[in-house]
Amino acid sequence: MESSPRRVGLMDTTLRDAHQSLLATRMRTEDMLPIASKLDAVGFHSLEVWGGATFDACLRFLNEDPWERLRALRKAYPNTRLQMLLRGQNLVGYRHYADDVVEAFVEKTVKNGIDILRIFDALNDVRNMEKAIIATKKAGGEVQGTVCYTISPVHDVEHFAQTARALANLGADSICVKDMAGILAPTDAYTIVKRIKADLGLPVQVHCHYTSGMASMSYLKAIEAGADVVDTAISSMALATSQPPAETMVAALQGTPYDTGLDLGLLSEISEYFKEVRKKYRDQDNVSPAVDTNVIRYQIPGGMISNFISQLQQQNALHRLNEVLEEVPRVRADMGYPPLVTPSSQMVGAQAVLNVLTGRYQMATNETRDYLRGLYGRSPAPVNPEVRKKLIGDEKPIDGRPADLLEPGMAKARADVGPYYEQEEDVLSYALYPQQAMKFFQERLAKKTRVDYALLEEARKNHPLGYHPV
Ligand code: CO
Repeated sequence: MESSPRRVGLMDTTLRDAHQSLLATRMRTEDMLPIASKLDAVGFHSLEVWGGATFDACLRFLNEDPWERLRALRKAYPNTRLQMLLRGQNLVGYRHYADDVVEAFVEKTVKNGIDILRIFDALNDVRNMEKAIIATKKAGGEVQGTVCYTISPVHDVEHFAQTARALANLGADSICVKDMAGILAPTDAYTIVKRIKADLGLPVQVHCHYTSGMASMSYLKAIEAGADVVDTAISSMALATSQPPAETMVAALQGTPYDTGLDLGLLSEISEYFKEVRKKYRDQDNVSPAVDTNVIRYQIPGGMISNFISQLQQQNALHRLNEVLEEVPRVRADMGYPPLVTPSSQMVGAQAVLNVLTGRYQMATNETRDYLRGLYGRSPAPVNPEVRKKLIGDEKPIDGRPADLLEPGMAKARADVGPYYEQEEDVLSYALYPQQAMKFFQERLAKKTRVDYALLEEARKNHPLGYHPV
């Protein structure tokens, strides 16, 4: 099997994960458009351009409409499939949304131009992905079901294979093995991909971060095991906490049965472009070292460590960073070994900081309590019963699907948007991020009013009768 030529595809993450990992998700749409004709001509399997933290960042920091960005990208990239990252029932937010919001969001996402939705859940709890998967199929989108990779006593090949099978049973068109922390070792990549390919025969795509320095090696082993697509970023936006460079994979596979067929010359022109763009975001640039030794020692994603640094700095407790790094695995064990990815990484991280600063579980965040109540879904292993007892007493955790408890959200959001409504997508932005969306709507209206006033002034000036009453 392995000797027959099998062209390997690359998904380019430059416009989503790469700048989320390196530039705090700050890249503006205006910097994504001028390079479109070249990036669109490469022949990437797909371009990841939306979802993850980009939706939030558009509204919160950039005063951009994320939907407008998607439409602009769709228009500028007519020849390549566009992909996004969706956090299952959390969509592109940090909590579960009601089913009617999930359905409407996915429908508009596909309508505005996303072809492939990569759907994951932080706990690999398939019940939290089910609604989004069904809605994507209904809307005519392609579903990439995701298995989050992590290391723990309960995360073995069997666990990953079972999660993949459950996703396939729900109708996933392909499977992603997602290594958000960058800790997937080459031989483990081989074993997991081999097993999923053998079980399901579906296309498998591997997503690694370069953080520990192993990702390119893991990709090669995954490809040898049958992976169809691997995720890369253009070299000037690659490495460190981002993805491995596209050019490296192209060169490494050239002339092998897995040749990508992509043009290194064209890729290098694109790399030059982003080298310049990156300079504009100097203030946000996370100039992390190429290899993060903490991620190897503690298996803690790079993004979490930078959060700890800023949280501890605010408390004048930066000298306690090592204690926090050592507390993270203990909290994670107490919580039944959740993979560390949004939103569980924030939950475990905040609790670890509290435990170090105030004593173990002397204080707890609402998120930790909700997690113990079962509101995030089923933990991979049982939680520590003593910690649960201490934090939520005799309260009985739910064991059903968390979103079954939520009231529908669209009608209320629609009512709240009220006079600011300009497009159906506004209701969704508001349902996900009420405060940020409202601020955006108000500024949008103010800008428009100013523009209208300027037009009026212009019209008055040019009118043959000069100023006249309006
Ligand atoms: Co990622």
